[in-house]
Amino acid sequence: MKSLFMAGLLCFAAGAVYAQKSNNTEWWKEEVVYQIYPRSFKDSDGDGLGDLKGIISKLDYLKSLGITAVWINPYFASPNDDNGYDISDYRAIMKEFGTMEDFDALLKGMHERNIKLVMDLVVNHSSDEHEWFKQSRSSRTSPYRDYYHWWPAEKGKPPYRYSLFDVNHDAWKYDAITDSYYLHYFSVKQPDLNWENPRLRQEVYDIMKFWAEKGVDGFRLDAFQFASKDIAFPEWPKGWEKDFVKYYAMGPHLHDYLKEMHEQVVSKYRVMSVAEGAGNTMQDAHNLVDAERKELNMAYAFEGVDIAKPEGYDLAHFKKVFTKWDAEFAEKGWLSIFLANHDQARMVTRFGNDTPEFRDLSSKMLTTFIMTMRGTPYYYNGDELAMTNIRFETIDDYRDVAGRNEYEYQKKNGGDLKKLLEDMKLGSRDNGRTPFQWDDTKNAGFTTGEPWLKVNPNYKTLNAAAQEKDPNSALNYFRKVVALRKNNKVLVYGKYSLVDEQNPEIYAYTRELEGKKMLILLNFSQKNASTVTDKKLGKLLINNYPTVQKVSGNKIVLRPYEARVYEVK
Ligand code: NOJ
Repeated sequence: MKSLFMAGLLCFAAGAVYAQKSNNTEWWKEEVVYQIYPRSFKDSDGDGLGDLKGIISKLDYLKSLGITAVWINPYFASPNDDNGYDISDYRAIMKEFGTMEDFDALLKGMHERNIKLVMDLVVNHSSDEHEWFKQSRSSRTSPYRDYYHWWPAEKGKPPYRYSLFDVNHDAWKYDAITDSYYLHYFSVKQPDLNWENPRLRQEVYDIMKFWAEKGVDGFRLDAFQFASKDIAFPEWPKGWEKDFVKYYAMGPHLHDYLKEMHEQVVSKYRVMSVAEGAGNTMQDAHNLVDAERKELNMAYAFEGVDIAKPEGYDLAHFKKVFTKWDAEFAEKGWLSIFLANHDQARMVTRFGNDTPEFRDLSSKMLTTFIMTMRGTPYYYNGDELAMTNIRFETIDDYRDVAGRNEYEYQKKNGGDLKKLLEDMKLGSRDNGRTPFQWDDTKNAGFTTGEPWLKVNPNYKTLNAAAQEKDPNSALNYFRKVVALRKNNKVLVYGKYSLVDEQNPEIYAYTRELEGKKMLILLNFSQKNASTVTDKKLGKLLINNYPTVQKVSGNKIVLRPYEARVYEVK
């Protein structure tokens, strides 16, 4: 708090306080971003994998949603150890996804529909099949040696580093060719790039320019908070391993690199930038996104999305976390707002209630939350249909390198495999990656071939085609709530105030801007719940129930998972 206060004072002294206000308008604050996981979105050629032509065939669907930008997970050449997050050529399209002509057509089709494209920039690491790494590992004197982090074996074993995706949890891999270890925070096929090397940095900026020249509208910086490292690789105090972010994030030169990237690339194009992760503290987050620092536009902070646990979560905690982040960024800086992505299980399963009775209602309620909070919304494909976790019974059904390698690790180390499989039913990333459910034909209309990951059997009734026909579907509600956000700047910039804080079932808040005020009421429980309001309610702007219940007096009763947005007079 103190440091924020100080920062505020300094800013005021510089006469720049107004220029930094969060409610300063910027185009990237007003976007509604829809995330496409291309592998699972739509397959056009029957190989069981989604592809760019598949996305092209769904451009009118995207337009119909009302979203204004799309973030597409990596579509670059890759051996796919981590579904494209291991890139072997940053200027080529993954062959399974199509060609550069397909990409150009996709971008053109999006721009014709006024939809922006945000690409994934995966440069904390590359693939071990990237030419840089092949050269780097070939000899200790290769000009590419310093593109990665190497530890010569004659120095003994390197200080232990934990790897998120490694079968042995070990981030150092011995490579016999040069009798050295290389560093990989993720899988063994994702060696970390050495950002301390200015040549490597220049390569990345050139890659960014290549795509910016093509016309992409933004960059999502994958795992970038880990890019800068103390390359002396000191020993860390015992027990640090699980506190990954604290030790790994925000290395010594991270901000220098972001400033350099901003100066060389971002400032020269009309692009938005978003970091995955926001460091360890509020100050870290501000240091990434505060406008006068000229680094990034916004970041995804994970505290919110991490609230949902296999055993459930507490609404009081949920309110507290989102209220805290809003307060910290009320005056300065900007964040994204989201409850799911391709690294999470399904939103409705984690945060709502995915039983047939409450699935659509609770999903619509969560969607209302995302679209009425401050921050740029990022909404994950399939959530507009209220797609649910698939809950695989056996490890053989999983495809994700993280889950499969964790299973191997536990197997080798006497872990409780039954418990792990139970946890994966709720938490595995593959739950969020099952093919998009387009209709009730074979494989949900996703592919005519064998899907790379099983389709959720509930597609027979839960699919886009069925929801198109139903005016009360989750899909049609999504369109309405997106339109509500786009038509009301108060939902983008307005001041947020929590009301009825102690209510254990209802999350209620107001948004207020230039005399316009809205009250958002969200029942997070599966029973009726009530709140008392002192506000003079105006028009009911949106409601996730097909029938409206009149409010008499100042007590409002919300039905299970009900969401309402009122104008306040
Ligand atoms: C974060 C990405 O979102 C995730 O899918 C990926 O596995 C890791 N970074 C490594 O790139």
